[in-house]
Amino acid sequence: MMGDFPDLGVGVGLRTPHFARFQRSVPSSIHWVEVISENYMSWNGESLGPPCKTLNKVRENVPVCLHGVSLSIGSTDPINLKYLAALQELIKQIEPAWVSDHLCWTSVDGQNLHDLMPMPYTEEALNWIAKRILQTQERLGRRLLIENVSHYLQYESSELTEWEFLSEVSKRADCGILLDINNVYVNSVNQNFDPLKYLHGIPWERVGQIHLAGHTDMGEYLIDTHDAPICPEVWNLYCYVTQHLGRVSTMIERDANIPAWEELETELNQIHLIRESCPIRQIQEDSSAKSPLLAKAV
Ligand SMILES: [Fe+2]
Repeated sequence: MMGDFPDLGVGVGLRTPHFARFQRSVPSSIHWVEVISENYMSWNGESLGPPCKTLNKVRENVPVCLHGVSLSIGSTDPINLKYLAALQELIKQIEPAWVSDHLCWTSVDGQNLHDLMPMPYTEEALNWIAKRILQTQERLGRRLLIENVSHYLQYESSELTEWEFLSEVSKRADCGILLDINNVYVNSVNQNFDPLKYLHGIPWERVGQIHLAGHTDMGEYLIDTHDAPICPEVWNLYCYVTQHLGRVSTMIERDANIPAWEELETELNQIHLIRESCPIRQIQEDSSAKSPLLAKAV
């Protein structure tokens, strides 16, 4: 499993305000970048022009990961083969280190909601989404990383916790997990659960990448806005995870209120510091092996 998702180091979600900086050269604080697949996918076979030129230049220097937002793998719509064909074409061009998307649904009757809607945590939904991830992986010829989402509703029909659902999906679909620690924290506050319980409840050998991001504190609840620096609680959770798990490819997602590169770099340096104090990850090929976190949990 981890052979599919080696530790690439410290990365960033590459966004247009930082294109000029990356066109000069890839900053030395960056070992890899992630881009939103849909921003570079071509639906009619034509090149997207300047954005692809920038990406190709970055690709010459560091690995690129493709992160999708509209695979809609949990939807009851048929799997979107046109989408997969366009994604496959981009994969051919970019040769990404890996490809990821979300544990969610984003479409109904072919209409894109432009939002990441959570799954009901039921056995039926579990079978459904695991089967579709397997089919998609088969079609793309590669294992996917599937990310936990932040969300603001719960279904009365849910029978499992979010972490039980994520764990089972990853095992049944034999996919990796993109662990968004900010999303875990936002959900833990909004839905009143212990984030450590979540972290202890997932199969660590399947975590191939970590997202860090900021959110907005609305007082009684949090909104996952990706428009602010990472908060101390999320840094603490990240330290906790990496101390137990070892070094995992980690990046910052900043999608709004994007600061000057130098400001983002101070947060990236914090990731470097935390990683330096962490062990090199021991690769566990046996996916049924006991989680190192569980082994150390009190
Ligand atoms: Fe994320």
